[in-house]
Amino acid sequence: MSAYYVTTPIYYANGLPHIGSTYTTTLADFLVRYYSMLGKDTFFLTGTDEHGDKVQQAAEKLGKSPKEFTDEVSSKFESAWKELGLNPSRFIRTTDEDHKENVRNILQKIYDQGDIYFGEYGGHYCTGCERFLTEKELDDGKCPDHQTTPEWVSEKNYFFKMSKYQDQLLDHIKANPDFIRPERYKNEVLGLLREPLEDLCISRPTSRLSWGIPLPFDENYVTYVWFDALVNYLTGIGYPGQDKAKERWENSEHLIGKDIVKPHGVFWPTMLLAAGVPLYKHLTVHGYWNTPSGKMSKSLGNAVDPLEVKKQVGMDVFRYFVMREMTFGLDGNYSGEALETRYNADLANNLGNLVSRTLSMVHKYRDGKIPVPKSLNEESKKLKTNALSCFEEMGQFVESREFHKAAGRIWELVDLVNVYIDRSKPWSLAKNEENADQLDETLYCQLECIRIAAGCLLPFMPDTAPKILSFLGIDSKIEPNFFETFELLKEGSEVEKGEALFPRLEVNKEEKTEKKIAAKPKGGKVTEDKAGLIAFGDFQKIELTVGQIMEAAKIEDADKLLKLKVDIGTEDQRQIVAGIAKHYQAEELVGRKVAVVSNLKPAKLRGELSEGMLLAASDDAGNLELVYPGDLIKVGGKIS
Ligand code: MSP
Repeated sequence: MSAYYVTTPIYYANGLPHIGSTYTTTLADFLVRYYSMLGKDTFFLTGTDEHGDKVQQAAEKLGKSPKEFTDEVSSKFESAWKELGLNPSRFIRTTDEDHKENVRNILQKIYDQGDIYFGEYGGHYCTGCERFLTEKELDDGKCPDHQTTPEWVSEKNYFFKMSKYQDQLLDHIKANPDFIRPERYKNEVLGLLREPLEDLCISRPTSRLSWGIPLPFDENYVTYVWFDALVNYLTGIGYPGQDKAKERWENSEHLIGKDIVKPHGVFWPTMLLAAGVPLYKHLTVHGYWNTPSGKMSKSLGNAVDPLEVKKQVGMDVFRYFVMREMTFGLDGNYSGEALETRYNADLANNLGNLVSRTLSMVHKYRDGKIPVPKSLNEESKKLKTNALSCFEEMGQFVESREFHKAAGRIWELVDLVNVYIDRSKPWSLAKNEENADQLDETLYCQLECIRIAAGCLLPFMPDTAPKILSFLGIDSKIEPNFFETFELLKEGSEVEKGEALFPRLEVNKEEKTEKKIAAKPKGGKVTEDKAGLIAFGDFQKIELTVGQIMEAAKIEDADKLLKLKVDIGTEDQRQIVAGIAKHYQAEELVGRKVAVVSNLKPAKLRGELSEGMLLAASDDAGNLELVYPGDLIKVGGKIS
């Protein structure tokens, strides 16, 4: 069984998880689930970076010792990941004993071979980055990432001969085109290597910074933060040391944000070359999540708390959103509105509706039993072929680390099944016993595609996908070579009616901010929201009239809309555009009585005039039914 080892940055123990760190950790969790399905022996490392000025200063501010402070922060990180369903194989802390020992051993080795020397250096030190910035990196004298003026620090310190390994690193990058990816970040590192590298300051005198790992060859100094932190990737799997660790290391991938490309793309590989340890396999870099108004940061007060997001929409929705929304490698915008749009479009309307309407049709037309198709026609075969290649094609996108396209591939299938249903019209087939075979075939194909789509969804949505599969009576434990052992539909056995997977989201329009997303309560109940209550007088303003649909037609390129001509007892018939095409065929509506909101200002929808609205009832399972009066009241009668 081959190995797969993925790491996230270890996060500074001076804050709490935010969307950025949660995104990286989610990607790692996704990859581990995905490679487990392929049968790889996976290992996932994350943790906290606890030494250095930044953490020491944060502890001092609270009047705590650094140890006391980092114990608290670190355990909050660990429990947040658990709460968010992100399950590292090890949660490492740079204060762990085995890590301190590993750092000291590596330092000693590099020192003994003469690659660490004592010298004096003055430079622009940015506490935010925890490193010296070169003149070239400064933007108008400031750190471009933190917008602060670095401190001029000049002192005697230990230096690592990074420059000695520059050419070797350059050769490695050239010989291994996917060592750093996406391409743009490889180019960034190549750009850094075009200039002669300066040697790396790796220590701080204990007189200035005591919170660190003492150098094994000089107790008056502690290691500089990066030389300590980066080594966690080796300590985490016990490398150098065990055999298993070697195999993991050969298949390692560091996931990072674009802010820390230099330490990972330059410092770390040169340190490894000096330590005589093979280089990691991949450095995979993602962009930043920003808010629509710019950078996301705690100090700007626009940081999003992942635990809050989980409470509001659930972790699966978050996972899907961040992987689908961000073009991997570029920056992305995180906003409540964008999340709501994806939720309603991709999850509630597409996937959720597909599952709920399929299950309800199987119950309505086949007593809930999975039908056995006699044969498959061309269209059904085409659909099944698409479904059968879904996992593999999605996998190709995962391999190229285009997570947004990988998720998109599953939705290609979901969309196709929805179109297939609309074309096959099971509700019409069900009207005539002669079409029984065709109805069996259609319903079977719907279920089969849902089964495969849910299998592909497992690493993206680890709570929802098993739920969908359980509706079909399928066990969804992730086993090695998943699709070879993936349970098939048990023909003749019963499917569940299921529950609404994605109740529609409603954002409080007046207070639409990144944080204010409220999920509608299940069962369609109305919340006790005083702002949402209307006065009796307001209700009286609405005029409701009994109408009858005289004509109905689809509108081109608008798959949800129907254009209706409705008689409401006036001289002219009203034209009403209604969003009910997913629920009713045009033909079945003609002659039907309806309740019409008849005093609505006319509006244009898709270029078509709409002079009113129809009343309809809906539920969380995605069902919708027109509300209409009985026989007694004639067309034109008023509803009050
Ligand atoms: N401690 C160092 C890393 C040492 S690794 C050997 C560090 N920690 S950090 O807490 O600042 O975390 C940085 C990482 O958090 C980024 O690389 C990225 O993974 C994540 N993000 C922080 N803010 C982010 C966004 N706004 N968007 C996306 N990810 C970002 O640097």
